[in-house]
Amino acid sequence: MDIAIKTENLTYFYNVDETGDQDIPDVLDNVSLEIEKGTFVAILGHNGSGKSTLAKHMNALLLPKGGTVTAFGMDTKDESLLLEIRRRVGMVFQNPDNQIVSNVVEEDVAFAPENLGVASPEIRRRVDDALKTVGMYEFRNHAPHLLSGGQKQRVAIAGVLAMDPECIVFDEPTAMLDPSGRRDVMEIIHKLRYERGTTVVLITHHMEEAALADRVIVMSDGHVVMDGKPKEVFVRVEELDELGLTVPETTRLLFELKNAGVDLPLDALSIDECAKVLADKFG
Ligand SMILES: Nc1ncnc2c1ncn2[C@@H]1O[C@H](COP(=O)(O)OP(=O)(O)OP(=O)(O)O)[C@@H](O)[C@H]1O
Ligand SMILES: [Mg+2]
Repeated sequence: MDIAIKTENLTYFYNVDETGDQDIPDVLDNVSLEIEKGTFVAILGHNGSGKSTLAKHMNALLLPKGGTVTAFGMDTKDESLLLEIRRRVGMVFQNPDNQIVSNVVEEDVAFAPENLGVASPEIRRRVDDALKTVGMYEFRNHAPHLLSGGQKQRVAIAGVLAMDPECIVFDEPTAMLDPSGRRDVMEIIHKLRYERGTTVVLITHHMEEAALADRVIVMSDGHVVMDGKPKEVFVRVEELDELGLTVPETTRLLFELKNAGVDLPLDALSIDECAKVLADKFG
């Protein structure tokens, strides 16, 4: 198994307290994880459970206070590897306005490879390719601030793609988007995972998005509390409820029916599977 990101006993706390108080709780407590190359992993967890803190360790935006993080075998604490780590592990955040730096879409997408010193013809190729991948090529000469939120997020993703990363960490990329913008982002993630073999880490509060992943990791108070295939994780409805998390609508429906005495498998996660078990039972 080839590993993209590995954390070993990762521990982290923020130096928040200016009074020098040492009694700061660990935001990540001994987190050990391996994220396999080419997989799509979703990370769930209540607000403040440590998801973003974990994400920021994956490309050395934060460095461990305890334990180690390696990205494609590179220790994130090794300063000489910083640029290479940042190039190979891209990050997309919630608010596209904070990620867009230029007044023209294609200049924005070219920004990172230009800074990396990539040759001009190669930049042209990458920018066009990235914009086509996210469906924003026709907008290449537009001003980003006039685009919709979903379009801006697609431009931000293109900017990351132009670095030619092997792994992209998305931290709630759809949180500020309408349903159509959310769908577009999920389609891009699907394309990256299945057509390019990009490793995708997706932090999300949308269970339907997590249901599409190869693997779901659930965090609570700085710990990994569940880790498995979506079907394995989402059948644990009561535990997820206790953690303040919901489950996909399909699972919820099957769970409620089960509570009402109708015996159905809870792991019919996709709408098609769910429709089928219902049709088999009642049809
Ligand atoms: N820059 C910071 N300085 C101090 N404390 C922070 C900082 N960022 C996060 N924290 C604290 O660390 C804990 C974990 O935060 P983190 O942002 O990693 O959680 P999260 O799971 O991403 O939450 P959310 O779902 O709200 O995005 C929280 O208690 C938070 O208040
Ligand atoms: Mg967060």
